[in-house]
Amino acid sequence: MDRRSFLLTSGIALAQAPVTATAVIGVGNRGSYLLESVLAQPNAKVVELCDNKPDRLDKAATKAAAQSPKTTTDWRRVIDNKDVEAFYIATPPYLHAEMAVAALQAGKHVYCEKPVGVTAAQVAAVVAAAQASKRIFVAGQQLRSHAQLAEAVGKIHDGIIGDVLMIKAQRHATSDLPYDSTSADWYYDVTKSGGYLIEQSVHNLDVCNWVLHPRPISANRFGATRLHTNEPAGRSIFDCGTLSYNYPGGAQVSFTQNVFHPRGMPHGGQNVLVYGSKGAIDLMYACMMYPLGAGAPVEIAAKREEVPHAHTIAFYNAIQRGAPLPAGIKIGAEAALTAILGHEAMTRQNTVTWNSLGVSL
Ligand SMILES: NC(=O)c1ccc[n+]([C@@H]2O[C@H](COP(=O)([O-])OP(=O)(O)OC[C@H]3O[C@@H](n4cnc5c(N)ncnc54)[C@H](O)[C@@H]3O)[C@@H](O)[C@H]2O)c1
Repeated sequence: MDRRSFLLTSGIALAQAPVTATAVIGVGNRGSYLLESVLAQPNAKVVELCDNKPDRLDKAATKAAAQSPKTTTDWRRVIDNKDVEAFYIATPPYLHAEMAVAALQAGKHVYCEKPVGVTAAQVAAVVAAAQASKRIFVAGQQLRSHAQLAEAVGKIHDGIIGDVLMIKAQRHATSDLPYDSTSADWYYDVTKSGGYLIEQSVHNLDVCNWVLHPRPISANRFGATRLHTNEPAGRSIFDCGTLSYNYPGGAQVSFTQNVFHPRGMPHGGQNVLVYGSKGAIDLMYACMMYPLGAGAPVEIAAKREEVPHAHTIAFYNAIQRGAPLPAGIKIGAEAALTAILGHEAMTRQNTVTWNSLGVSL
């Protein structure tokens, strides 16, 4: 093929390549990052942006100026916009379910930040809408698109540490979110964020579900506000908690969270330590396997340069090519419900089962 014909043909191919018209709702911290991830995709175009804080909307519109998106402070106008095919939700957690259900019912593909909902009823509503829809639904559990983690979890499933016996996992932070931060208007209200476990630890609990699939049977626990009582004023979320989850087959997860792990003190941050009959794995960062008994530690999944925006790429590949989803509604709902189960156990200071939550999975 000569150069002219090649250019003509590739031009036609480019013209025919699918481009998904996309809107981003909630362009705060996470929404700004998601907006950048959409702008980086040649097969997506940002056609509308929404935030009820005009300053944030302006900033996002400037960032996306090359694609000339419409802007609105009313998310229902985006639902009514027939040109919008894909709908990103990055608003505070209590708004996710209502927005996701409306978008799915309007025939849009949905990328919904975690958690899918903050109550079991909200999660159930999204599950019903996603199942009734022919559209793609992706939950923002982006660790599922982390290639190193996926390789390590695959090896655990293949038996590299034998039977999984228990997991010790945690999410410890060195401080609360700043009380003057822009998210403080929803984060400290348990009805809006769900609390630390549902809003943040949902990622770590999802990794536990991934290893021990599909989900726990019950949760038992303790949760409290031990240090930051009424800080900020009206606070209704815990600042620490310890939980145990029972999984089918007898495996247990012991989970702790707090926001007062001093910087520099060992054993802080996030980890998921998976103990099996042949050895244990420090899963979340190093992916090292420590054999039980004699033997040197072995790296079971090498650190690599992860594909930037892999979760967003997977969303568009599912829409345009029918590629499998890394975290569809089942994974997103189970992650949220596992966190909700734990939160209820912490609140009731008792053992909580799905039945007692009114959930039939
Ligand atoms: N996947 C991840 O790793 C990750 C990381 C951070 C946050 N998140 C999730 O993203 C979501 C947003 O978190 P954030 O840190 O960006 O919070 P944020 O407060 O910075 O942003 C939320 C935005 O939503 C806007 N908003 C609120 N109500 C709205 C409404 N009715 N209509 C339109 N816009 C509205 C706010 O004005 C704000 O700009 C949360 O669910 C959070 O859990 C996920």
